[in-house]
Amino acid sequence: MRTGEKNIFTFYLPTKVVHGAGSSRETGKEFKALGATKALIVTDKGVRSAGLVEGVLGSLQESNIPYAMFDEVEEDPGGTTVSKGATLALQEKCDGIVVVGGGSPMCAGRGIGIVVTNGGKIRDYAGLNMASKPPLPLIAIPTTAGSGAEVSQFIVLKDEELHTKMVVGSPLYFPKVAILDPLLLRGLPFRQFVASGVDALGHAIEAYLTTLCTPITDAWALQAVGMIYHNLRPAAMSDDLDAKEACLIGSTLANMACGNARLGLVHTMTTPLEGMFKMAHGIAVGTLLPYVMEFNLPAAQERFADLAETMGEPAEGRSLAEQAPAAITAIKRLYIDLGFPRKYADAEFDRKAIPQVARLVMGGLYAARDLAKEYPMHAPVPSPNIRKATMADVVRLFEKAFEGWEL
Ligand SMILES: [Fe+2]
Repeated sequence: MRTGEKNIFTFYLPTKVVHGAGSSRETGKEFKALGATKALIVTDKGVRSAGLVEGVLGSLQESNIPYAMFDEVEEDPGGTTVSKGATLALQEKCDGIVVVGGGSPMCAGRGIGIVVTNGGKIRDYAGLNMASKPPLPLIAIPTTAGSGAEVSQFIVLKDEELHTKMVVGSPLYFPKVAILDPLLLRGLPFRQFVASGVDALGHAIEAYLTTLCTPITDAWALQAVGMIYHNLRPAAMSDDLDAKEACLIGSTLANMACGNARLGLVHTMTTPLEGMFKMAHGIAVGTLLPYVMEFNLPAAQERFADLAETMGEPAEGRSLAEQAPAAITAIKRLYIDLGFPRKYADAEFDRKAIPQVARLVMGGLYAARDLAKEYPMHAPVPSPNIRKATMADVVRLFEKAFEGWEL
């Protein structure tokens, strides 16, 4: 057992999970059970026009629950969208929220719930444990198998003032109910399925490679790695509903793990890229993942061997030194099969900005960022990543991620 720098841990997971094909028809019943009487539906226009909200609305109607519709969440939402949604919720006297969508509506909807009960703007609550009152009760219904925001205490939104990302986190922010209905994933385009699935795989792998991981988070993380790794190809490439369901449950499990074990260097390093370059989260995270795994390998050979075995790499007849890197080979093989990028492209991330991005990374994943602060190259990155990294490592890893890899 690895205890890292701490020896007292908490595992906390208060969200009720309802899952199975057709489970979104339970929304009305679950909403009533929360004691709420009128729902604010939070979604985006794409999800709505794909018809994914219809079943949820039908379920609310069957339970005689009125609702107001807020379908104005854009890609990468920030405080403006959250304030708009909160104003509508207050005008319409909604006392509960139902989010249908991917990471963007999920984080916007959860932010709306905080602003409605606590007042002000979502930026007032940037950082950890800043709101004093619980948000409106919320049911989260994901339409991608990726973010895991349906079981997370963390909300990631665009910081419109600093042009970066802000993390808003507290145990108060866990959704009350997550409904995992694989039928809602049927129309998800291939590229989106892959990008969100690789992000979820990143959550599971990173959760297995932090100084805060425990036997409890390890169990969730390994199960998630196995479910996502073995099902992402058929789930993204075909109509295989069982594979899609496995990816959906896997992405939820992954977040249950990383919500407690936290995330490593990949997410710490990529968060500024999304703010500065509007890079899609799954692409930013997934592209960097193999490079950070290579960096972490010397610090956690046994753990890499566990990951390799979970991804179907036979341990028999192999030494630890042979088995451990097989985890990285397995990831690279998956990327090749899925046509996932092997490196960052200059068009999406200006490599001249690496020093500036590295400075933002040094602010940490959860902290408010002082954009002007300078750091020496040997300064440690504030991250529970299993191998301690410095500012120099961050710069080197970004440079490597422009070179690409071969198998
Ligand atoms: Fe992520």
